[in-house]
Amino acid sequence: MNKLFVITIILLSFGSILFAQELKLPSNPLDGRIVFEEKGCIVCHSISGYGGTKGPDLAREQYYGSFLELASIIWNHIPAMNRKFRELHIKRPRFSEKEMQDLIFFIYYLRYLGEPGSVSNGKKLLSSKGCTNCHKIAGHGSNIAPDFTELGEYSSPLYMAQIMWNHGPSMQKRMKELNIPYPVLTGDNLNDITAYIRQVSSVSTELRMSPGNPLNGKLIFENKGCTNCHQVSGGKKKTGPNLSELNLNKSVTEIAAQMWDHSPTMIEYMQEKSLTYPMFKGNEMADLIAYLYFLGFEDPPGDPSKGETVFEEKGCITCHDGGAGPDLTKIKPFNSRIQILQRMWNHASKMEDLLLIQNNKWPQLTTEEIRNLYAYLTSIIQKK
Ligand code: HEC
Ligand code: HEC
Ligand code: HEC
Ligand code: HEC
Repeated sequence: MNKLFVITIILLSFGSILFAQELKLPSNPLDGRIVFEEKGCIVCHSISGYGGTKGPDLAREQYYGSFLELASIIWNHIPAMNRKFRELHIKRPRFSEKEMQDLIFFIYYLRYLGEPGSVSNGKKLLSSKGCTNCHKIAGHGSNIAPDFTELGEYSSPLYMAQIMWNHGPSMQKRMKELNIPYPVLTGDNLNDITAYIRQVSSVSTELRMSPGNPLNGKLIFENKGCTNCHQVSGGKKKTGPNLSELNLNKSVTEIAAQMWDHSPTMIEYMQEKSLTYPMFKGNEMADLIAYLYFLGFEDPPGDPSKGETVFEEKGCITCHDGGAGPDLTKIKPFNSRIQILQRMWNHASKMEDLLLIQNNKWPQLTTEEIRNLYAYLTSIIQKK
């Protein structure tokens, strides 16, 4: 085998080990809500309708990609924010590393919470997806399977997904016997069905799941044997798909729906490998899915030589090569990606003043550019 090739492979796998451990998973991503309010983001942004209206509502529509994608969004609108802070006489906030981390986890997590479902759609779906071939609801449907009207406690779509997963093998058996096609569901479908069942339910008890704990979810993923078939970052190709490539663009229920949709194939493989079918209880499904959701948060490593070009083209070099800014080879090393955003944020007001004097514009940075800048800066900082 070609030597260079072997070295590249070793470097790549080493890179992926470092990379996988860099950002620690949060145990409660909602902690960042406090930072969001304290640092004045709420002055302009709402979360699901609560807060300011100058900027977009951050819990709607948009999915905010990886850590550095968020870093890029925040960096690019620093000047607009600063203008507002001056106008309102709010002191421009500074961030500790922990605060910046909590804030970013929080924004990333907002989409996870998903949309409220549509009751009328849910009603249609139960028949169009064939659920009422076996289940009864509000007096309609068949008696083969439990009556949905008595399932009021499954108030959240994740709870619903958990129960459906647990009953998956016996439902599928019945479907085969009755020649009913397997109902494929989207995340929105799950939301809508849950909303409808919640409304017609005659049961008053409500079992809620707390928002998932990604840290617990990682343990569940390992303990339930998902790692038998799925890899999550680098490593050897396994039977099932690499879950760090899941499309997380929608919301939490989308991931639950993907598990449901693929469950017949998974069950087949499990039987083939004589693995026991994993069952979930309590908050486990929410935790597991929160973990899967956070797999999208990590950025791939950047390219230091491209980063050097960014450093020149974006004008960092005009201040940081003997100009008004410090020599960046002498600064304290970054111990995580969070620090590049946090430290650049904290220096942004000085930088902005200098740029105004120089009559230069704020350098906009894309995700890719920040990623490469980070790689470049990390490579030139002299480690002590
Ligand atoms: C001056 C009001 C203002 C403040 C304060 C503010 N933002 Fe914004 N933000 C905006 C506006 C306006 C946009 C729309 C995009 C743009 O023009 O920059 C935006 C866009 C965003 C976006 C991208 C939204 C999208 O869907 O495209 C994110 C994420 C964001 N802000 C986060 C924050 C965070 C985090 C804070 C607090 C540290 C904050 N913002 C403080 C006004 C503000
Ligand atoms: C072929 C018949 C059949 C179809 C079609 C079917 N199910 Fe089921 N379902 C069952 C059976 C049988 C059970 C009970 C399984 C058991 O006891 O393990 C069940 C159980 C459930 C449960 C758990 C009920 C409980 O008592 O906790 C839920 C929730 C559920 N199904 C949802 C659905 C949804 C949503 C659909 C449509 C997307 C659907 N099912 C389609 C047969 C079916
Ligand atoms: C026995 C092997 C096996 C086990 C164990 C297993 N899976 Fe899978 N999984 C698969 C296969 C194979 C697919 C692809 C199925 C298909 O193509 O329909 C899949 C697909 C998926 C998907 C959809 C992926 C996509 O790209 O859309 C998710 C999500 C998933 N699995 C999650 C899990 C979780 C969580 C666990 C642990 C509770 C688990 N799997 C356990 C084999 C397995
Ligand atoms: C207009 C001049 C100017 C430009 C352009 C500029 N900086 Fe700076 N930079 C500064 C100054 C001044 C400081 C020190 C600020 C302080 O002490 O608060 C600084 C500090 C920093 C720090 C923090 C150092 C530490 O000790 O933590 C980093 C990282 C940094 N700059 C990176 C960049 C990057 C990357 C660019 C290009 C996108 C850039 N700077 C563009 C003036 C500039």
